[in-house]
Amino acid sequence: MAFKTLSNIVLLAASLRVASAALTKRVTCSTGQVTANAACCALFPVVDDLIENLFDGGECGEETHESLRLTFHDAIGLSPTLGGGGADGSIFTFADTEVNFPANAGIDDIVDAQTPFIEKWNATLTPGDFIQLAGAVAVSNCPGAPRLQFLMGRPVAKAPSPIGLVPEPQDSLDKILQRFKEVNFSPAEVVALLASHTIAAADLVDPSIPGTPFSSTPSIFDTQFFIETQLRGVLFPGTGGHQGEVESPLKGEIRLNSDSELARDSRTACTFQSFATNQNAMANAFKAAMAKLAVIGQNTAKMIDCSDVIPVPKPVVGKPHLPAGKTMNDVEQACGTAPFPALTADPGPATSVAPVPPS
Ligand code: HEM
Repeated sequence: MAFKTLSNIVLLAASLRVASAALTKRVTCSTGQVTANAACCALFPVVDDLIENLFDGGECGEETHESLRLTFHDAIGLSPTLGGGGADGSIFTFADTEVNFPANAGIDDIVDAQTPFIEKWNATLTPGDFIQLAGAVAVSNCPGAPRLQFLMGRPVAKAPSPIGLVPEPQDSLDKILQRFKEVNFSPAEVVALLASHTIAAADLVDPSIPGTPFSSTPSIFDTQFFIETQLRGVLFPGTGGHQGEVESPLKGEIRLNSDSELARDSRTACTFQSFATNQNAMANAFKAAMAKLAVIGQNTAKMIDCSDVIPVPKPVVGKPHLPAGKTMNDVEQACGTAPFPALTADPGPATSVAPVPPS
């Protein structure tokens, strides 16, 4: 009896060792980097190329922001009634069609910038995989961002997306939430995806002021977008009153009508507010929502998890705050069940994020 118990223990220990070895099995690639799956080794040189040559050494700048936007405009192109392949690279493969959709205005810049890379790495990745890989690497350039998931294995797109599937800032919130619902995103997940607008700027909403950000810290993946979008709008940063634009709280900052609505509507305001001072909640919810977005229309059972090729982002810089010159009286409380978290303002003269004119 004692012998049987002992042999059971030995067997159990052996099988635990096998299981843990399977879990921790790592492959060392010829480049020296380590990944869980040998098929992912081919991606490390692509990641290095992107960081050095598309993202200027890893800056959370314009190409980074545009590459994230591109992941969304490709992925959202699926409708249960109208068709489309989702995150399939059709925005590149059928660029002649999709880039001309009004909602894709300005996306041609990043499609053009990524084209030589997509062609160069064509034997390694399909355009759909490339766009999502570039987006995940892009986000990793921004301090405070989560490390996004990356799955490989999207087939080449067969057809362009139908027109009208990418939300626009002048759309009603009903229309925007309905559009996301069609691809299985809840209102809370839409708000989570909007964390992307914390590392974002608009070139074409007001074309007189290209590069105008949605928050005061567009190179940091922080919560300032969720704070500043809740402040009372008092000015237009440029020539004002464009389609999809509403007043913003700061000089040099632009606000989309859709972002303003998402911050104030009863369906989304409490989620919006919940991210204002909670970096971890925001980053985790964004990561989960992006993992869904990146595989819209794809069969994940046939894909390989290559998330460990994505660099680990640096920690966030700074603390949640009101911009200088603002007080809690400037917060437009919209969540009906909890007060907006108490914040103090930066010291000094009123914050402006407008570019300083050359002297
Ligand atoms: C309610 C849905 C959304 C609307 C109406 C919307 C609209 C816009 C608009 C109008 C711009 C400015 C484009 C320009 O003038 O250059 C923009 C920029 C941007 N959007 Fe969205 N967006 C939405 C959701 C998303 C999502 C889900 C993502 C990513 C997951 C995203 C990522 C970005 C990024 C990163 C930029 C900045 C691009 C740059 O700096 O060049 N957006 N968005």
